Amino acid sequence: MSDEKSKVGQELWGGRFSEPTDRFVQRFTASEAFDRELASYDIAGSRAHASMLEAVGVLTAAENTAIQEGLARVLAEIEAGAFQWSVEREDVHMNIEARLTELIGDVGKKLHTGRSRNDQVATDMRLYLRTEIDIICGQLTRLQSGIVGLAAQHTETVMPGFTHLQVAQPVTFGHHLMAWYEMLDRDHGRLLDCRQRLNQSPLGAAALAGTTFPIDREQTAIALGFTGPTNNSLDSVADRDFAIEFCAAAALILSHLSRMSEELILWASAQFGFISLPDRFCTGSSIMPQKKNPDVPELVRGKSGRTTGNLVALLTLMKAQPLAYNKDNQEDKEALFDSVNTLNDCLKAFADMVPAIEAHSAAMRNAALKGFATATDLADYLVRAGVAFRDAHEVVGKAVAHCIDAECDLADCSLETLKTFHAGIEHDVYQVLTLEGSIAARDHIGGTAPNQVRAAIALAQTKLNR
Ligand code: ARG
Repeated sequence: MSDEKSKVGQELWGGRFSEPTDRFVQRFTASEAFDRELASYDIAGSRAHASMLEAVGVLTAAENTAIQEGLARVLAEIEAGAFQWSVEREDVHMNIEARLTELIGDVGKKLHTGRSRNDQVATDMRLYLRTEIDIICGQLTRLQSGIVGLAAQHTETVMPGFTHLQVAQPVTFGHHLMAWYEMLDRDHGRLLDCRQRLNQSPLGAAALAGTTFPIDREQTAIALGFTGPTNNSLDSVADRDFAIEFCAAAALILSHLSRMSEELILWASAQFGFISLPDRFCTGSSIMPQKKNPDVPELVRGKSGRTTGNLVALLTLMKAQPLAYNKDNQEDKEALFDSVNTLNDCLKAFADMVPAIEAHSAAMRNAALKGFATATDLADYLVRAGVAFRDAHEVVGKAVAHCIDAECDLADCSLETLKTFHAGIEHDVYQVLTLEGSIAARDHIGGTAPNQVRAAIALAQTKLNR
């Protein structure tokens, strides 16, 4: 192979090599096909680095100006879709640097002074994830607002609350929705924690040990919106905790969305009939004309497999890697990007869909009437009449068995019948046997009484509007 040909793909590091990279190895080791996602962050990092080099006297003002203008042109080319990505230039960093040098000449070769692709990629990844977390938090807030808005319309809408998917006690639909809100509120906190911890600049760690140039790490950190530089150069290039933390938060959010999806799917079935999903979020069957399938929640439920997989992939990727940088780390990108994109899409789908959910109050109420949802209220009533709870539980169990045989509800039994189970039962028992009585009685912080749910909604609204 001619000397000229051997330079292809090795233009930025080929000095010590005596033969060109194997074609397959070139493709196998390249990341440009996916890490181009980082291009704008890579350029922002390079611009901050070059300005810092000027400030400390490593570059002249003219050199920095040329680099700044050149990088702006490279970014414009990328944004316009005119940039020629090349697998021979391996990754986003070398594609951009090589193009810069094509555009501005040899001064472009000075950009890489005092840094390495190792601190460069660590910086790019943090900048990327910080931006994406902000976008995701916006979607999450939109979804939470939608949930709270729907809850506010249903603070008095009675539905069965379930344990073991068996009717347990009546709750309001608003109360159930506010449980979803709480799950997402914790998720929001996890994302903000992750953002805060990742927001330190690895730039200046160079390959692993720092650099011999008189760099100012504070300057680049501040220029890029970080709170400051990271503390240890080895850790800076080896750490991918931030990506793992994010993927863990993303997996948990998808796990929550998957649980919500499951409920929506059940509720939208003919057997429950609690809700209708808007047609625009459903699809039909190519063979069964009557079908309206809840595809969006089903797909969200299924997508949770990806985010769990990505988390496991990153944990496995990082486990047992010796310090500092290893090429293994290149494998962090597709998993992280996939979790970011999946989460963004699923949150968007949910945020658009939830406010358009139509609740069928009558069906919810009927279901709550069916499963002896007020049995605990009857036991509590007996306790107030002086019966020990365990004895009251036994009495009510017998009354329920009777109702199952008689195919009626507790509230349908005459006072005479109820008294056969316990003589202490009086006419006022019917107040506690109604769904509304049961709900209104759970009147404490976190309870399902309508005024408590309204208070929870007000708190949530204050938090969301902050
Ligand atoms: N493409 C590489 C990655 O994603 C960039 C860093 C390369 N560093 C190196 N020493 N080969 O991790």
